[in-house]
Amino acid sequence: MYPEHGNLTWILSLLLLSGVLSNEWKVEYQPSVCAVKGSSVVIPCSFYYPKGEKVQEVKWGQESKDIYKGHFIFDSASNNQSSRFQYIGDKLQNCSLKINPVEHNIADKYIFRFITKSPTGQWTGTGGSTLKIVDLKTSVTNTSGHGATKEGDSVNVTCRNSCDGGDVSSAFIWLKNGESIHKGPSLYWRDISPSNSGNYTCSLEAHNGTTSRVVNINVEYGPKNTSVSVRPSTEVDVGSNVILTCSSRANPPVENYSWFKVDEDDVIIVENKSELHFREFSLAAGGRYLCSATNKHGSQNSTMVTLKVKAHFPYISIIASAAAALLIVAAVVIAVRSLCFRFNEKRAREPEADHVGDQQNTVYLNWPIPDNSNEGNPCEGEQIETVYTNIDFNTKRKSDMQQQMDSHSNDEGAIYSMLQFPGSYS
Ligand SMILES: *[C@@H]1O[C@H](CO)[C@@H](O)[C@H](O)[C@H]1NC(C)=O
Ligand SMILES: *[C@@H]1O[C@H](CO)[C@@H](O)[C@H](O)[C@H]1NC(C)=O
Ligand SMILES: *[C@@H]1O[C@H](CO)[C@@H](O)[C@H](O)[C@H]1NC(C)=O
Ligand SMILES: *[C@@H]1O[C@H](CO)[C@@H](O)[C@H](O)[C@H]1NC(C)=O
Ligand SMILES: *[C@@H]1O[C@H](CO)[C@@H](O)[C@H](O)[C@H]1NC(C)=O
Repeated sequence: MYPEHGNLTWILSLLLLSGVLSNEWKVEYQPSVCAVKGSSVVIPCSFYYPKGEKVQEVKWGQESKDIYKGHFIFDSASNNQSSRFQYIGDKLQNCSLKINPVEHNIADKYIFRFITKSPTGQWTGTGGSTLKIVDLKTSVTNTSGHGATKEGDSVNVTCRNSCDGGDVSSAFIWLKNGESIHKGPSLYWRDISPSNSGNYTCSLEAHNGTTSRVVNINVEYGPKNTSVSVRPSTEVDVGSNVILTCSSRANPPVENYSWFKVDEDDVIIVENKSELHFREFSLAAGGRYLCSATNKHGSQNSTMVTLKVKAHFPYISIIASAAAALLIVAAVVIAVRSLCFRFNEKRAREPEADHVGDQQNTVYLNWPIPDNSNEGNPCEGEQIETVYTNIDFNTKRKSDMQQQMDSHSNDEGAIYSMLQFPGSYS
């Protein structure tokens, strides 16, 4: 059962009294104290002296720094104090010293001295308290057993405070790139991904000044997002410059590139560069291309891009313009012919008025014969030769046709076929 607070004080008084009674000069230290670099630590200490003495001065020194010649890291009689060493005891019995922050270069044996009023009252406690300073230790286990960490590996990172032991175990936090991400002694990824790459450190939860060395997790992977971009365009003029660029994300970066021109059955390795540069694009260079990016973890193909050769001015445009010009000429000529034909057709029909009966079953085929010798009216330059052909119309159509013929109405009842001889386009 724990004594209550009043009882504790009473017990301490009793201990003090026993010290006084025994007339003993004594300092009690904890022989060794362990601390993590960057944390703060208390070196616990108690001291005893004969009854009647009154403590005047308290001092702390380091064994390696001439405490016996009067060099102190803390001295109640001096105004020149380091803020790192703070006396948290008193002038009665508690001589504890707090050190904040702890650094490797202050690892030493710490010794307490006190001075009382009487001429003989100087006491330096034999022994001392040895301060051990450690770093937080990290360890990385890659259960997949590779040298490097690769996407998909199982990775475990653990933090350890070597001051811990027995029942003592520290509470840790983990930081990624300086941001707190997890409380606990370890981080574990069953299936690590590139986004887990980063600089990790652990700290003691109770001392945010502590930090382990950086654990750099660099998750490697084969090429991803391999793609081809084309400048200036996938529609290419013959003779122009075209640049295909292969881009890919990979860790470590892409080590080599291959270019393929994929045509019906053959695949040609073109070049080992991230850029494929056509300085004078030829008709034959048109086609489908892809790139392949490779690093030590693998290869990835891009999708295919198709370079289309654009209709090119010197060849195609001239043909197109010529064709357009011909069409216009043809249209004009046809229009003129058509006028002439109607004119001639009317003339041709007149003498046949006598044998209307024959005409009932007649279709006119008009054959314009060019005759360039006759000038003036272009229409008269053509003799119209009328060819009669008998076609069996049914009765109804016969009468329809008769009506139209009789009334000398339009040409609708006739079927004309016009053959144009070459050479008439001029
Ligand atoms: C000495 O004083 C410090 C600070 O007041 C305290 O934390 C520590 O427990 C004391 N030690 C003893 C032995 O009383
Ligand atoms: C990790 O640390 C290395 C070396 O200190 C540094 O070059 C890198 O930029 C750091 N990475 C991040 C994500 O902060
Ligand atoms: C990269 O590829 C992955 C699949 O492999 C896809 O999910 C992601 O959106 C791609 N990223 C970009 C920027 O294209
Ligand atoms: C491709 O080029 C890279 C550097 O440009 C070189 O390291 C690599 O060996 C080349 N690969 C092949 C297959 O030529
Ligand atoms: C990439 O494409 C080339 C050409 O089509 C083919 O030979 C190769 O096997 C492909 N590589 C991969 C990894 O798919």
